[in-house]
Amino acid sequence: MKGFWKRWFKSNASADIDDTKIDSIKNSAIIPEHVAIIMDGNGRWAKQRSLPRIAGHREGIKTLRKTTKLANEIGVKTLTVYAFSTENWKRPEKEVAFLMKAPIEFLDTFLPELIEENVKVNIMGDTEALPHHTRKAVEKAMKDTEHNDGLLLNLAFNYGSRAEIIQAVEKIAHDARTGKLKHEEISEELFSSYLMTSQIGDPDLLIRTSGEIRLSNFMLWQLAYTEFWFTDVLWPDFSEKEFLEAIEVYQKRSRRYGGL
Ligand code: FPP
Repeated sequence: MKGFWKRWFKSNASADIDDTKIDSIKNSAIIPEHVAIIMDGNGRWAKQRSLPRIAGHREGIKTLRKTTKLANEIGVKTLTVYAFSTENWKRPEKEVAFLMKAPIEFLDTFLPELIEENVKVNIMGDTEALPHHTRKAVEKAMKDTEHNDGLLLNLAFNYGSRAEIIQAVEKIAHDARTGKLKHEEISEELFSSYLMTSQIGDPDLLIRTSGEIRLSNFMLWQLAYTEFWFTDVLWPDFSEKEFLEAIEVYQKRSRRYGGL
């Protein structure tokens, strides 16, 4: 076999392998309910190709679409992605302006597909500080998908975990002062209910791409018992293969939550 047919056979054979893999993962009892991803490496991906950083983010948007589709297909219930941190405002003005438009670009292109696939969209972060057009696009997506009950795509946008924790503490202090809450009622469960994830819960699996091994102010409270999986692959290159590998590794982990 050579030339065209060899290539044809190879590409079709690998598609079959992936389908088998997807089926075996889907049939496993251990699907992480909540997967969180720190989508890192867009800038380096662009630099390697002598492209502007924005080109990396644009490619990253496509990877997010593919990953959302696959997560939904294998039965993940929630996918939380770190799309813009409260620290990202420090980036050059042009890049920030593009990232503020990223939800619009993503939703303009993919919202009909997300609706069709029964995906529900949520935004987690300080939305008040966002430009009007960004907020409007996200609010529309949330409204248009509010009755969907497939995968919840939770976009962490203008999100910072320390700010989230401080906000929760302020609200608890306020509720204690005004008599809505008794001091003795403060517990881990109550604290969690004051966080932005009160309706979502903690991630089971955290993926970070691009070889960086840190949390970068992402879901510090919620990741206490999460399984971590890191890859050197840059986010725009992150494919079905890596996502399924992360899920398979998760399926082999033994979660003990501090017990035996
Ligand atoms: C980190 O890579 C990536 C970001 C700060 C932005 C992530 C955004 C997207 C993938 C676009 C999708 C967003 C939405 C809202 C749909 P980096 O720029 O820090 O890469 P580097 O470390 O290589 O410079």
